[in-house]
Amino acid sequence: MLKKVIGDATLYHGKMEDVIPTIQFDHIFSDPPYLYIKTHDFDKEFDEQLLFENAKRILPDNGFIALFGRGTSFYRWNTCLADMGFVFKEELVWDKRYTTAPCIALSRIHETVSLHTKKNGKIRRSKVPYIEQKQFDLESIINDIKRIKSAINSEAGLNKIKDYLQNGNYFTEDNRTDKHCVSQQPGILHPDRANATIKSISGGMNERSLIHYSEKSILEIGADHYKNEHPTEKPVRLAERIIALISDPGDTIYDPFMGSGAFGVACINTGRKYIGSEISQEYFDIACRRIKEAYRQPQLSEVRNA
Ligand SMILES: C[S@@+](CC[C@H](N)C(=O)[O-])C[C@H]1O[C@@H](n2cnc3c(N)ncnc32)[C@H](O)[C@@H]1O
Repeated sequence: MLKKVIGDATLYHGKMEDVIPTIQFDHIFSDPPYLYIKTHDFDKEFDEQLLFENAKRILPDNGFIALFGRGTSFYRWNTCLADMGFVFKEELVWDKRYTTAPCIALSRIHETVSLHTKKNGKIRRSKVPYIEQKQFDLESIINDIKRIKSAINSEAGLNKIKDYLQNGNYFTEDNRTDKHCVSQQPGILHPDRANATIKSISGGMNERSLIHYSEKSILEIGADHYKNEHPTEKPVRLAERIIALISDPGDTIYDPFMGSGAFGVACINTGRKYIGSEISQEYFDIACRRIKEAYRQPQLSEVRNA
């Protein structure tokens, strides 16, 4: 088992089964072999029981285990975690908007991720930049602009917007002043919704369970690191957004099935410590290179915990 330390990242060339008993971490975030194309080297079975038992032993009570997955194995992992006393918190759907297997009858354009905590972990409130959250939804952006335009056409609306911009006062439907409250209920008064929109544009929007993210987006945010160096590689930006939901800067995240190291790059970009293990020499080398490169690059990606 070879160990390489690069900044706050520790990378093992070895099997998860040999690495996990020897390390400490706060959370697990991984994209395990889905066990769908077992003829491929990267999709081999692993010792699920050993992974989950060690996760239970090592994770702090507020630690998370977040797993990508598909089909039977994904449902089995989730059931297994629940049977072991982990608490299911949420399910995320990544809307890829394209398929990686165009020949199959039903084009699969999404991936699922489940979030479990060992005991009492809380999903963080995470703000995503306005344009990034709205990508693919031009109509909704246009409606927001119209709402602001119509609000500033009335003196009352203009004053409310000024009050928000100058003093941070934000009025909800029942006229409660609450600097921290964003209400987007249907029926809320126009100027209030205009203020909510301005607030979202300046401070970002809450993360959602359905994440639209594609490297083919026309509205890319910052640098897209998606390089396709692994057949099942996940975008770094997607990983950053999931990491922001389950952890805080300074936490240590273990990725037992590191592949090309996308989650390691995401950890570095968001100020988390990273441990990864990878069985294949080829992918281990790629992960080492990408993580070194990530340390050399300016931090362009933005993830904010509100
Ligand atoms: C689904 S891929 C991960 C892809 C990664 N998320 C990325 O973006 O590049 C799973 C990886 O786990 C590795 N792997 C499979 N079984 C393993 C084991 N028992 N221990 C460590 N790595 C393993 C495979 O070689 C493969 O690269």
